[in-house]
Amino acid sequence: MKKINLGVLVSGSGSNLQAIIDNIESGKLNAIIRVVISNIPDVRALERAKDHNIPAVVIDRENFSTREEFDREAVSVLKSHSVDLVIMAGFMKILTPVFLRAFSGKIMNIHPALLPSFQGLHVQQKAFDYGVKFSGCTVHFADEGVDTGPIIIQAVVPVHGGDTADILQQRILKEEHKIYSQAIQFYAEGRLEIDGRKVHIKDSSIAKTPCIHNPPLEKF
Ligand code: GAR
Repeated sequence: MKKINLGVLVSGSGSNLQAIIDNIESGKLNAIIRVVISNIPDVRALERAKDHNIPAVVIDRENFSTREEFDREAVSVLKSHSVDLVIMAGFMKILTPVFLRAFSGKIMNIHPALLPSFQGLHVQQKAFDYGVKFSGCTVHFADEGVDTGPIIIQAVVPVHGGDTADILQQRILKEEHKIYSQAIQFYAEGRLEIDGRKVHIKDSSIAKTPCIHNPPLEKF
């Protein structure tokens, strides 16, 4: 199978980037990371890229007077590395239409909540404070809104008594590392079709668990 060329956008630790690298190296994910771009210098994600001989580029927002200029530079770097699919992996910046048009339908984002609940920042803490019994994570195509694009895959993560927001964040992150690779692999296999707000996944099996409860039902 042909491997797809990825460009990964990061701003921080890069644990999602690492999971994608690991899944590529173990042969589970049919992709090649052509370039990693960070909008912030000296982040851990850049070291992770270098450790695996992946070209790593810093595009410092401070060197650009507008968001559009920043995006034009990012698009030019991605195109020069023949990127097919852009992966936002903890990229803490909103893309402008300049970027979105250049890679229309070819940009994925991961968000650490069950969208459309808890859009924006610090959402694990917000979900925890709200008292939800389930949170989770979502991989979606990017569109002009913030965390609003068509959803590809979600994982549901329970909140247990005695949890802290930090524990919940770690539990969610573990699932992020699986669903992002799965979403990319669906794309690599040509199985994703965007139909308005819906993403159809060709030949996908039905979820094994029809329903989950938290806390578990005792009598009913
Ligand atoms: C992840 O939890 C990701 O979902 C979140 O940032 C973290 C990055 O971790 N992204 C957002 O909140 C985007 N709105 P990582 O750098 O270790 O992959």
